[in-house]
Amino acid sequence: MLYPTETCQNRAPELLLKKTLVVLPSSILATYLLGIILPWPITLLHAVWLQGLIAALASYYLLHMPIWWAAIHLLFFPALLSASLILNLPAYWYLAGFITLLLIFGRIHRTRVPLFLSSQEAVDALAGLLPQDHQFKLIDLGSGCGGLACKLAQMLPHGSYHGIETALLPCWISKLRALLSRQDCQFEWESIWQHDLSGYDVVYAYLSPVPMPRLWEKARREMRPGSLFISNTFTVPSIEPDRCIRLDDFSSAVLYIWRMA
Ligand SMILES: C[S@@+](CC[C@H](N)C(=O)[O-])C[C@H]1O[C@@H](n2cnc3c(N)ncnc32)[C@H](O)[C@@H]1O
Repeated sequence: MLYPTETCQNRAPELLLKKTLVVLPSSILATYLLGIILPWPITLLHAVWLQGLIAALASYYLLHMPIWWAAIHLLFFPALLSASLILNLPAYWYLAGFITLLLIFGRIHRTRVPLFLSSQEAVDALAGLLPQDHQFKLIDLGSGCGGLACKLAQMLPHGSYHGIETALLPCWISKLRALLSRQDCQFEWESIWQHDLSGYDVVYAYLSPVPMPRLWEKARREMRPGSLFISNTFTVPSIEPDRCIRLDDFSSAVLYIWRMA
């Protein structure tokens, strides 16, 4: 699926987080004050819906956040309350849930890149583009759980595969996979922006529209002439790829391929 590149690039991710950090406490405070001012008693159920409504209206009309954020604000506390009433879980489960999400998704509010995995069709198409009979080095930028590199290493063991990932849990899973596969696969807990791309024949990325312009600039500066830059699904605005491969997978993804000059 192709995402609307321009609209996503113009959004400031940190701004959305900052607005949420304003909306949440102020809507809780407003609900508390209404609870004091209003002449009739407010139950916990009323309070969570009132807070949700205030937060949703304020986020949409005052802070001009996207509509889906308003929906999240509306439903967040009611969903939390329903879950705690239905499941009756102790409070530390919520903390554990939050920490687990943090470990899986890392600093997603900054990167704006969630975890989703390349399809088997993408792996097969990529394998067809790689040298079939001589050594090469490939890096997966934002390697998730390491599946792409490990599968390629099994298909083409004469290659050398590298992955870098900032989310901790996927990175640990990748390292374990590499250990068990015993192929030439290495994974590092590192940011894309800190890693030098000059040593690779193929650079693969499956990220989101947000980092693409900056990533293209980095690839242009660092990658060797003749090496391949391949992006799954997300193109670089205003830069025509040398080749596109449409995949027959669940999202009809496209591999965009640039040969670096
Ligand atoms: C869509 S997933 C792709 C996973 C894997 N490459 C694949 O194709 O199956 C993107 C991954 O990039 C990681 N990521 C996002 N920004 C990053 C950054 N600046 N440095 C390293 N990893 C990053 C995310 O944590 C996420 O796991």
